[in-house]
Amino acid sequence: MSRTRRQWLGYFLLLFMIFFLYRYNRSSSYEAITPPETPDSATNEQDPFVPGFTNPDFPESHLPDPVLPTEQVPNEPPHESIWKNLPLRFPVTPNLAPPLQSIREIPKIQAGGSSFSQITTFFQKSRQAAVKEAFTKCWDSYKSLAWETDLLAPISGLPINGLGGWGLTIVDNLDTLWIMGMRDEFTKAVATVIKINFEATDSPEINTHEVNIRILGGLLGAYDLSSDRRLLLKATELGDMLYAAFDTPNRMPITHWDLHRAARQEEQIAEEMTSPSELGSYILEFTKLSQLTGDPKYFDAAQLVMEKFNRLQDVTRLAGLWPSVLNARTDIFDGDLFTLGAEADSLYKTLSKAYLLLGGRSPMYRKMYERATRTAAGHSLFRPMTPDQKDILLPGYVHVLQTENGKSRTLLEGHVNYRACFSGGLFALGGAIFNIPTHRKIATKLVDGCIWASHSFPLGIMPEVYDTVPCASQTTCPWNELVWKEEVHRRVNMGPEPDPNFDIDAYIRDHHLPKGFVSVPDTRYNLRPEIIESMFTLYRVSAREDLLDTAWGMFESIQNTTEIINGNAALADVTSPDLDPVHIDAMDSLWMSETLKYFYLMFSDPDYMNLDDYVFNSAGHPLKRPATEWIPY
Ligand SMILES: *[C@@H]1O[C@H](CO)[C@@H](O)[C@H](O)[C@H]1NC(C)=O
Repeated sequence: MSRTRRQWLGYFLLLFMIFFLYRYNRSSSYEAITPPETPDSATNEQDPFVPGFTNPDFPESHLPDPVLPTEQVPNEPPHESIWKNLPLRFPVTPNLAPPLQSIREIPKIQAGGSSFSQITTFFQKSRQAAVKEAFTKCWDSYKSLAWETDLLAPISGLPINGLGGWGLTIVDNLDTLWIMGMRDEFTKAVATVIKINFEATDSPEINTHEVNIRILGGLLGAYDLSSDRRLLLKATELGDMLYAAFDTPNRMPITHWDLHRAARQEEQIAEEMTSPSELGSYILEFTKLSQLTGDPKYFDAAQLVMEKFNRLQDVTRLAGLWPSVLNARTDIFDGDLFTLGAEADSLYKTLSKAYLLLGGRSPMYRKMYERATRTAAGHSLFRPMTPDQKDILLPGYVHVLQTENGKSRTLLEGHVNYRACFSGGLFALGGAIFNIPTHRKIATKLVDGCIWASHSFPLGIMPEVYDTVPCASQTTCPWNELVWKEEVHRRVNMGPEPDPNFDIDAYIRDHHLPKGFVSVPDTRYNLRPEIIESMFTLYRVSAREDLLDTAWGMFESIQNTTEIINGNAALADVTSPDLDPVHIDAMDSLWMSETLKYFYLMFSDPDYMNLDDYVFNSAGHPLKRPATEWIPY
């Protein structure tokens, strides 16, 4: 096709879409949107998505298909993988297609350009270079020792597979290479990635949630940055594979998935024990894939799951939050333990981001975000008792206990895991998107809480899991050394025969417990990103300058203690004051793809990878937000 003809076709499609959206917006009946064969999805708060390709009002031949700018449409058919045309046992007709444009009303997320000092930004350059140097070292080691495998074990120098063996570290870091300006490396990596065969794996089963957020997210993020069509084809192949995990009687995906069984077309059924994170975080990648390919089936599949979360949100034992263990087979969400962290983080992270990726056209995600954060703020965030009475918050766990008279009461535990520190970013982002000023304050206190916890330990690094003493009130919280020691005592010496001669001070000394900490059940640091992720988000939203120096201090603390010959290694015990700490032979790919990426972006020009242009998925992959709707006069 000549360039002019393509342009004309483009204009024609654009005009058609405007007509189509206009006509749809005027239609008040949403009935045709609900898939008739899945009664589950009949919800009273149906979002007005663009009706899909099977709507009788819009015969297929009239639809703007493809819906992309013509240049981006793959002109070669995707590799015909077994997954593409695998017959489904429980087929659905996809009736929901995601919108492709944003409404105008979403507020700006980032602080205005003039709030960031140019001089300050300039002085971050050398810090940024240090982060890139750390990345380059890890990347080079991975290239020479573990290329095309999932991970490098940095001490032994051995390659490790664990997530399908498709080269996780490469796919996970395509966009990091692009963002850090390593374009030659990016090109080489893409050449390897497009040869991945998603039909071959030695793994008996894969974690579909991890494959989705890291590998599919990685491909889509790299495609959005580079527009390299081959990456979209790969993403589609993988999307088709993951789609097969949704082929269960109730269309709930299998998260620990025997894909060989699925390929043999044997019966599949969703699991009885899964978590909100695993079940509820497909929507960003699947929406993006539908938006890019014009095939609504991916979005439709993930949306069905999210509608279930929406319907069950207010009938859990702690209305507004979802329990940390879910039964995906029966759709019974009746667990009694609730947290924003570990088992649930990806779901909560996803809500406001799905709203953005759907162009602000989904009141459902806004509602889900607002209800979840309201309950979390009232029940699971707490002020820890600290020696200098810091006005901070931490995210804890809530148990819902049944009392004898049939009522229930909640019990808050000051039990924190590293992953829960994403919650500062959650409130910072949601507060900006939905214009809720108190969420900015909560975000600030949560970020300060995780910084306080980091600085309380001798290496300046927060351990994976620890317990603190929650104050009864968030407004006043005087330090009481006796209460702290009693809590420690209660924790360690309460069995059936408590030791009467138990020496609490010796215990605290031997276990290196900083003041305010009751126990540290998991003393490791696994090179995780959540604190810097939240600091980055809060910085971009608020322009709070002191976060830059704090972030630099954290980077130095981590780099100084985890750097080894082949990159960086996880730490066995961050409570030990030993400056030459014990390393674990593990370097998760999230160290490069998330932790170092967020450190790099923290020190970049605030306009780079602007949050008004990109949504970062749960694994740190940037997905381009839809352009704002153009309204004709
Ligand atoms: C890290 O190491 C550098 C270089 O040895 C040193 O200047 C810096 O103070 C250290 N920082 C921390 C936080 O340990």
